[in-house]
Order: sequence, then structure tokens, then C-alpha cells
Amino acid sequence: MSVDIRFERLVLASRANAFASSPWTDAELVSEPHPDPIYLSHGAPSAEVEPVERLRVGADRAWGEAGGNLDYGEIAGYLPLREIILDRLQARGIQVGVDDLLVTSGSQQGIDLIAKLMLDPGDGVIVEGPTYIGAMQVFDAYEANYFVCPVDADGLCVDTLERLIADPENRIKLIYTIPTFHNPTGANLASSRRNRLLEMASRYGVLVVEDDPYGEIYFGNPPSPALRSLDETVIYLGTFSKIIAPGIRVGWMVAPPSLIPLLLLAKEGVDINCNRIMTRTVYHASCDFLDEHIVELRSFYEQRRNAMVQALTQSAPQDVTIMSVTGGFFAWCDLPEGSDTEKLRKIAARHGVGFLPGAWFYPEGQRASRGLRLSFSSLPVDRIVEGANRLGHAMSEYLSESR
Ligand SMILES: Cc1ncc(COP(=O)(O)O)c(C=O)c1O
Repeated sequence: MSVDIRFERLVLASRANAFASSPWTDAELVSEPHPDPIYLSHGAPSAEVEPVERLRVGADRAWGEAGGNLDYGEIAGYLPLREIILDRLQARGIQVGVDDLLVTSGSQQGIDLIAKLMLDPGDGVIVEGPTYIGAMQVFDAYEANYFVCPVDADGLCVDTLERLIADPENRIKLIYTIPTFHNPTGANLASSRRNRLLEMASRYGVLVVEDDPYGEIYFGNPPSPALRSLDETVIYLGTFSKIIAPGIRVGWMVAPPSLIPLLLLAKEGVDINCNRIMTRTVYHASCDFLDEHIVELRSFYEQRRNAMVQALTQSAPQDVTIMSVTGGFFAWCDLPEGSDTEKLRKIAARHGVGFLPGAWFYPEGQRASRGLRLSFSSLPVDRIVEGANRLGHAMSEYLSESR
């Protein structure tokens, strides 16, 4: 790739192709012609449940203690915060100590640090199909070679996984998975599949990266414990983004002891340390608060999930499948075989509703297109219901036009 700067032609690194466009640029564009668009595309928490007041009080305390904390500091993260994170890990069945853990600038940074440590250009990475767009932004930059493993209602299909992982030509270095309340499908990896995935990864010497931003946001029974609770070689990523707010950029990573020193140096090379005032703010805001707050989040988001699924069940044509979702922020629909949700997106825009087409959640060149992701986290119930109704009409119009 090359760009023009002041009449000079600069030849950029081959990885710069990964930065030529953002997958998010178009996310909310298509609904522009409508006077009152509803975007069911935004996968962020609701502003209504972001604990702003607690963060403000926490920030006052953090600044009160700022003397001496404004120098460069702890690369692994503020120790009392790491101690609090141990509670979050225990809630997911993970028993580790503070030394197994580093605080990151969101789990996004965790994905980047692992890729930095593990991937040479052309190395094989197995991702779920569909998968989290932001993870592909990272793997693209490290010039990974993607192998896509389909997801069904029970999560990653482990039979396909075995075929991909067993082929030495694929040079698989790591499996990136979101086993619990998957983004974008909401699927939950079945217990038996969790065991098989770990058994295969161990047999073929492949690193498993478990991304778990939604594991604590469940509706009804708690989900299966994290993969990391079953196998201590798994790298586990967590975050405050969905249970506090994404703008604070605080997450965490659990890694095997032999990798921690390398990850710390990799992080040091990126940002030296996380923001020391913000990590203290999050610590003070979280103390004696988070457990109860998360209980409230569950019923808050459950209401929104119910509203979306009920409205869609009533409004979507019979041959549209709505995947069952028991936690997280997303619902996934599949239109009949041969459908193209990019085309549906244009019709939906006329009806005043936006969503993310399934193809966006696949690596370039391996796209499947009859699915779509709907987020129920960020809008109030009445908007969700109105958006789902509009989408149902748009689906009917698209399907009758394409028959
Ligand atoms: C699966 C997944 N991983 C990582 C992230 C990024 O989280 P963070 O804000 O902690 O970087 C998201 C955000 O949507 C996500 O859905």
C-alpha cells in the first residue's frame, strides 16, 4: 500500500492495508434518509445503567491520592484493582492469584498483545464464523491467515474445528473464541463442546484465547464456567466495558505464568502502563458495589431482550430464524438460504431501522450473508419494539421481492 504525502509517495508496511478503512464507518450511515431512524446496531451498554455518580466519587478519591501516582507506574495494573478483579473471575469459576493477571486498556488491548506475541504474517488463526469485528481488526494488522469455524445454537462447531486444527498446512497458532454469549450471535458454547475444544487445543498445541465480556450478564441460570476454569493454559480476557462503561478503557487478561513477563513487556512497549488515575477510579467505584450492580444489569437487559424477541417473533416472517439468547447484548436472525442481508439493510433503512449485516462479522473473502445482528442493550424498550416491528416489515418486503 502507498499514500501521497506532500507530493512524496510513501510506501507503507504491508500491514497498513488493515488500516485503509474502518469497519464501523458505515454502521449508522444507511438510515440517514429516514426522519426518525432506530439503530439496532450499537453494541454498547445503556447510558441509563452506567454508574456515573459512583465514578465521579471514585475519581475524587483517586485524585485525592494522586500525589506520587502521576509518575509512570505499575505495568500489571493497580494491585487493589487486580484484587477486585479476582472476584469477577471467581464468578466465572476461575481461581487465580493477582500475579496471573494484568490490567489492560480494555479487552481490545488484550487481543492485540496476544496477537503481537503469537503471530507472524501468514500464521493461522481460527475464529468463529461470525466473530467479533474488533478482533479481526487486530488479526488483520498482524496479517493472520483466517480459518473460519461455523457457530450454531450450541456455539462453535467442534467437528469443523478438528478438521481445521488437524491440517498442518493451516499452521494454526491460536483459536480466538467468545464461548459465552457470543458476539454477534448470542450463542453459548455447550459444555461438551467446551471440553472437546480444550482437548483438541491441547492435543495440537494451539493457544486458546477466550474473550468473555458478557459472561456475567445472563438471564436466568448462570452460564457454564469459563474455559479458563477448566484449563490453565487458556488466555482469558475480561472487561469493565459492559458492566461499568466502555469509555473508561479498563479490562484484564489472565495468562499462564510463563507468558506473563512477555505480555508485560509487550504492554510496556505499547502504552507503558494503564491510566493510573482511571484504574484507581474504577477501583473506588467498584468496591462494595459491583456485585449488586451486576444483579441489576441482568434484569435490566433481560427486559430489553424480552422486548426484542417478542416483537421480532410477532413481526418477522415465518421463515426467519431468531436464535435463542440467554445473556449478553445481542440477538441474531437468519433469513432463508440465499438471502443477502446487505440488500435487506437498504430496504430496512427506508423503514427507518439499522442493523449490522452478518457478512461484516466474517473475514474478507469468507463472508456468509443471510444473518444479521441486532443489539438490544443500548435502546429503551419502546424503541426496541418499534425497531423490531419496522425490521419485520422490511424483512417481509425483502423476501417477497426476492421470491
Ligand atoms: C467480544 C468482544 N471483545 C472485546 C470487545 C472490546 O471490549 P473492550 O471495550 O473491553 O476493549 C467487545 C466490545 O464490543 C466485544 O464484544
